[in-house]
Order: sequence, then structure tokens, then C-alpha cells
Amino acid sequence: AKSSPTLGLPIAFHGTVIHSRSLSDLETLENCFLLVDKTGKIQALQAEVDPNEVNKIISDLGYAPDVFPVKYLQRGQFLCPGFVDTHNHAPQWAQRGVGRGKTLLNWLNDVTFAHEAKFEDSAYAKRMYSSCVSGFLRQGITTASYYGSLHGKATQILADICLEKGQRALVGKCNMNRNSPNWYKDSSVEDSLYQTRALIQHIQNIDPDSKLVRPIITPRFAISCEPELLSGLGVIAKENPDIPIQTHFNEAKGEMLFTKELFPEFRTETELYKSYGLLNDRSILAHCIYLEEEEIEALCDLRCGVAHCPISNTTMDYFMVAPIREYLRRGIKVGLGTDSGGGHSSSMLEIMRQAFVVSIARQDATQGQDPALTLFEGFFLATLGGAQVCGLDDKIGNFAVGKEFDALEVHCDGGDLGVMTPVEDEDPVSVIFEKWIMTGDDRNIAKVFVCGRSVKI
Ligand code: GUN
Ligand code: FE
Repeated sequence: AKSSPTLGLPIAFHGTVIHSRSLSDLETLENCFLLVDKTGKIQALQAEVDPNEVNKIISDLGYAPDVFPVKYLQRGQFLCPGFVDTHNHAPQWAQRGVGRGKTLLNWLNDVTFAHEAKFEDSAYAKRMYSSCVSGFLRQGITTASYYGSLHGKATQILADICLEKGQRALVGKCNMNRNSPNWYKDSSVEDSLYQTRALIQHIQNIDPDSKLVRPIITPRFAISCEPELLSGLGVIAKENPDIPIQTHFNEAKGEMLFTKELFPEFRTETELYKSYGLLNDRSILAHCIYLEEEEIEALCDLRCGVAHCPISNTTMDYFMVAPIREYLRRGIKVGLGTDSGGGHSSSMLEIMRQAFVVSIARQDATQGQDPALTLFEGFFLATLGGAQVCGLDDKIGNFAVGKEFDALEVHCDGGDLGVMTPVEDEDPVSVIFEKWIMTGDDRNIAKVFVCGRSVKI
């Protein structure tokens, strides 16, 4: 078994810290002292600290001040939590941006299956997944919930690479044994379930304490799975009450019609997945666009999470807007997903921007009943909301003392700022933050930390 990544020594910061305490509460702490202990956990978070007091605080905490560095952030620099991508297809990394404008089912058949089939080749998987995990880390995605391809071996490689590169991840072997070409289909229900169990075992071997990587049960969607496969996955979910579940859910009209043809006994997808034991407080449901009232109620009762993917929802053949404000009003957990590569972008900043755009469309369509998302709310969805959806909010999502330090060091001053709106002398922190969210990119992310370890490649 490979060893877990080594953690950095204690590390401390002084400067501006921005994080969400809840959907409506974005906290900005200036002159903040933040200390990460040697296990990667946040040990201290204190605002309005005079820089001259930092060494005293450190020694009061029981450390010799010179055993680790203090990073003093300048004006235009701040720390924020790392982004959580609640829905991501790792084997689609090399097809992002291809096949725009097709219906979902045509896009799968014409573009996607052929790409994913390449992951049969372990050398290809190693190369592409290295590029994928590095690419997402560079863009500040410190946690991703990944669909692998159907290949057990390649998906084990994906888990290995997340651990090696230090990305927090949920990793699932994609289950799919029908309605795809013979050359890209699980050979049998038994084999699909066997490969799933083998992946769970593999991840438990390489990361026994689930420090970074966890398995996730991943039926592609009901169209791809015979009833026996869904039942078998429901059994695995029941036997493993810690393992989350992800699938595509009420994503597109054609997909919903075809699902109904295949499963005429269920009135809704909620009834369908629920009956197979796949809906509970560990479920991550991607898209959730066309839910009936009773389905929304069921998601509340079952405590399922929603992965909102506003770019892929508007990249296929139809402009699809999920009723996110309604979900938030009902207290349903919501996070953001790149849905890379159904979505062309792998940047959580761009996902937030599109979430704002589609929320304005929704506000319009509901005559103001569903107000558009605010900047704060979008940022919450990209961080703490996503952590809640992934069942990781006890560990990450903000800088509460005791959580693990998954963070971005953002620089909006000096160096190559790319095309971000220039920061001006009179800009308060709130404006600098808004400029970065709305116009920044990975060039402004100077460092990425996962569990205290600097991982940016
Ligand atoms: N539904 C089934 N498979 C997929 C996929 O790969 N991407 C998206 N967006 N929807 C799907
Ligand atoms: Fe998807």
C-alpha cells in the first residue's frame, strides 16, 4: 500500500481570510491570524491581530516561534477555502468543449463513450488522470467527487493519483451494463458489482483512515443499468453505511422519457432510485432540473444532496435551469459541479458565474419569486455547500477551528494577474473579492493547500 502524503509542518498566516459560515453569512476577517497544526488542522483563527503580536500568540499556543514560517499576506491577497466540485467525470478530461449542442443521449453515444473507452489502457489512464487531477488542483478544486470510467483498474489508478497528488476525492467506478455500445459496457451485473467492491477495497487499502480519498457508488444513471445492477448497488450501499452514492438525476427531457420507458412501474425517478435503496443522506444527485413537488419533498425527507451543474445544463441542446432557490428555501443541501466534460469548463469560478447567470433567468421566469443567487451564496455553494453535499462538512468547507486546512492563497496583486479586473487603491476587500470571483482565474491562485499540504503543481 502506498503511504499517505506527508503533511506540512505547522504553518501560520497573517492577513485577510474569507469564508462562509452559512449560506447567508460570508465572513471576512482582516489582520487575521490562522494557524494550521502538524496534522493539517486549523488550530487558531483570530481576527484583528497586530502583526507584532503574532509571535506572542504562537508561543502562547505552545510553539517556539521560529520552528515554522509565518506567511504575512499583503493587501490584495487573501485566503479562502478550497473549492468542492460535487460532480466531475475524470475520464472526460480530454473531451471538454467537444460535442456542444447535442442532446444528452446523442452526446453520450457520439462523443463520450468512445473517450471513456480509452481508459481500458492503464498507461493512458495514468497519463490522462495525472493531467486531470493536476488541472483541477491548479484551479483550486481541493475536493472532487469523480465518476471514473467503467474500468475497475483505471478507476483504481485515479484513486492512486488523487492520493499521490494530494487531492481530496470521492472516486467511483461507473456502473453501466446496457444502452451503450458493446465495446463500452460492463460485461455482466456480477462483474460490474465485483469491480465496484474491488475498488472499495483498494481505496480502503491505500487510504485506510479516509484521510483524502473515499469510494463512492456510481451508477451512471438508470438508463445504463439493468434492474439487477441497481439492486446490487443498493445492497452494497446498505452494507457500507459510510459510502456515498452518486448518479445523474432528472437531467434532460429525453433522458427522463427513456427512463420511463425502461421502468414503467415508477412514476418518477425519485421513486425509481429510492426503491433500489440509492436515495439517502449520502446521495449526490447531479442536475435535478425537472422535479415534481412530491420529489422535492422526498429529497428533503431523505436528506439527499444536489450537485448543481449550471454550465453543462446550458451546453447541451437546451437551456435547462434547475430550481436552486427552491431547494435552498427547503433546506436541501446544494453544491456546485463542473460536470466536466459535459460542462466545458473545469473552473469553479466559471461555474459560479454561470450559476449567477442561470439564477437570473430563473428569477425572471418566476417573476421574482426565486431571487437570483448573490455573490456570497454562489461562493457558499462552491465551498461549504459542496462539503455538505459530499458529507465532508465536519472536515472542510470553511476555516472553523478543528477543520482541516483546504485553502487557496489568492493573489490579486503583483505577478501575472492574467486578465483579472485590476485592483485599485481605494478598493475594499469586498470589491477585491468580487473582482476575483467574477474575472479571476487560476493565475490568481498562488497556492493550493489540502489538509495543510501545499499541492499546487
Ligand atoms: N448522464 C449519463 N451519463 C452522463 C454524463 O457522462 N454526463 C452527463 N452530464 N450526464 C450523463
Ligand atoms: Fe455528469
